[in-house]
Amino acid sequence: MVRVRVLPDYESMSAVAAEIVAERVREKPGAVFLLPTGTTPLGMYRRLVQMHRREGLSFAQATFFNLDEYLGLPPDHPASYHVYMQEHFYGLVDADRARIHVPDGSAPDPEAECERYEAAIREAGGVDLCVLGIGRNGHIGFNEPGAPFDSRTRVVRLAESTRRVNASDFEVDRAPERAITVGMATIFESREVLLLASGANKARAAAAALRGEISEAVPASMLQRHPNATFLLDRDAASPLDGAVSEGEQRSNEGSTWA
Ligand code: PGA
Repeated sequence: MVRVRVLPDYESMSAVAAEIVAERVREKPGAVFLLPTGTTPLGMYRRLVQMHRREGLSFAQATFFNLDEYLGLPPDHPASYHVYMQEHFYGLVDADRARIHVPDGSAPDPEAECERYEAAIREAGGVDLCVLGIGRNGHIGFNEPGAPFDSRTRVVRLAESTRRVNASDFEVDRAPERAITVGMATIFESREVLLLASGANKARAAAAALRGEISEAVPASMLQRHPNATFLLDRDAASPLDGAVSEGEQRSNEGSTWA
């Protein structure tokens, strides 16, 4: 069963997420992480950078993979996830460049890039901790509704709704039409999964993922089958679940946890 922790607000959700990442890298300095971009993880990254600066939390031996990248964007494009990760995390901590992996959206042969990426995850020994956001349509990474549960890293077409939501990152009116994303099976094989959702506009997706039928129509619902998955929700994202967080799940309030 998926563990659910409901935190009062975005800041406390971000603090718990950062503490979980920090614990994993302290326990296993060479851990392999699969990481998200977007608005949701910004608070988590901000705290991890603070922990690095204030407490010397080190990422020097860890390996990092990113979940996705837009197809056709060179790594120095301001809206690329390469730039996002440099600006918000990799460039601000002691991560080893040789162990940072983001799909190359400008690779001349995108299919070959996907195979190379998938192989690199395998060669790193698989993922210890995958951190995810969730799309309003239930997507994880850029695995849009309908993504096969057995999919691997591949080129995908973005949902129109995703392109609209992400439009503000682009000067032209919408996001690129295609992206490279780590696949559903690759995500599922992570030894631990942490999904973050904040705000009322994620409430339906989070509820469908946790309580709905397990279906490729709601990609995040696949996580109901995962042996070690936790959803960290702020109160707004958890609102439809009120009273429905059951035994075996947890609610948290400012660090205190009760069943
Ligand atoms: P967001 O994106 O964090 O910017 O809301 C999450 C996602 O689409 O996976």
